[in-house]
Amino acid sequence: MKPITSIEDLRQLARRRVPRMFYEYADSGSWTESTYRANEADLAAIRLRQRVAINLEQRSVRTTMLGQDVAMPVAIAPTGLTGMQHADGEILAARAAQAFGIPFTLSTMSICSMEDVAQATGGHPFWMQVYVMRDRGFVERLVQRARHANVSALVLTLDLPFSGQRHKDIRNGLTAPPRLTPGNLFDILSKPRWWSAMLRTRRRTLGNIVGHIDGLDDNVLLSEWCACQFDPSLNWADVAWLRRIWEGKLVLKGIQDVEDARLAADVGADAIIVSNHGGRQLDGAESSIVALPEIADAVGTRLEVHMDGGIRSGQDVLKAIALGARGTYIGRAMLYGLGAMGQAGVTKALEIIRKELDLTMAFCGHTDIRQVGPDVLRPARRAELGEPLALRRAA
Ligand code: GLV
Repeated sequence: MKPITSIEDLRQLARRRVPRMFYEYADSGSWTESTYRANEADLAAIRLRQRVAINLEQRSVRTTMLGQDVAMPVAIAPTGLTGMQHADGEILAARAAQAFGIPFTLSTMSICSMEDVAQATGGHPFWMQVYVMRDRGFVERLVQRARHANVSALVLTLDLPFSGQRHKDIRNGLTAPPRLTPGNLFDILSKPRWWSAMLRTRRRTLGNIVGHIDGLDDNVLLSEWCACQFDPSLNWADVAWLRRIWEGKLVLKGIQDVEDARLAADVGADAIIVSNHGGRQLDGAESSIVALPEIADAVGTRLEVHMDGGIRSGQDVLKAIALGARGTYIGRAMLYGLGAMGQAGVTKALEIIRKELDLTMAFCGHTDIRQVGPDVLRPARRAELGEPLALRRAA
């Protein structure tokens, strides 16, 4: 096997090893995928400022997120159906994050339940993503279960009142466990690492949900279930309700607008995640890195500003920190590692990103990530880059 040197290498390997239905669930955006592509492209367009002849011997990328020490300003993002990229995927990713010293965020739409993750990580605190669903009783029970599972932060997703259309999921007939049409079966049979591990686990359905909501059986078309359970009436009064019933840290995910960021601070959130759901919801939304600086300027003194969307390298993390993020999240970069090589692949992804972050920070003349600001960025040539907002602000 060729050596793995980048997140892209892990992605290529995951594409060969994970059934198409699940690989494409991760590797897709909504409609034309323009926002999905912009998240990466706008990060790539930002130029860094090289500095030399500075003592770079002692370096640290350690910092804090939500008051918690982190080995680098990167958390694992909540991603749905992680346990379908690899058997017991959420447990493996949580263990990798725990050993590495960064936060792991479990999705409500996970295969392993929060109780599974709590047990597998020895009661180590983790973060948990929630939706406000039509069934508020379910949400209250979920919060109660989260307390028992030693969840230290709830991450409320606000940008999914209904699901953006992802063409690939419709074409693939996405379900968990997979519906065995001749095409799916043929594809799965060609991925022996995946199915042999999957046969050895009992976790193949939505672990946080199946058995906790009436009318949800274990082979549900995800888009149909989302269409009837996600609550389009969700508003700031619901957010305030969750703030009242949850005493731990509260993070609001899916903020792309300064006005919404201010409302998030008003409601008493501890942090926001500048996010467009990895380009999976509003196709046409601006990239997260472009939305970030204005939001960080407006509310950065009132709460922590985190960011996700397009982070595939340590260079990307550095750029987000430079533009005002306190921390970042990786979703797909983690999933590619997981699909490629299980827990070792997630660890590999984290090691790659940390090394890139450490060395890139140093090339920019810094030795401590907590001191990094917009001075590490160079406004690039306007004509070439079309002058994204992020660059104008850094100038
Ligand atoms: C769920 O959050 C998804 O993006 O599929």
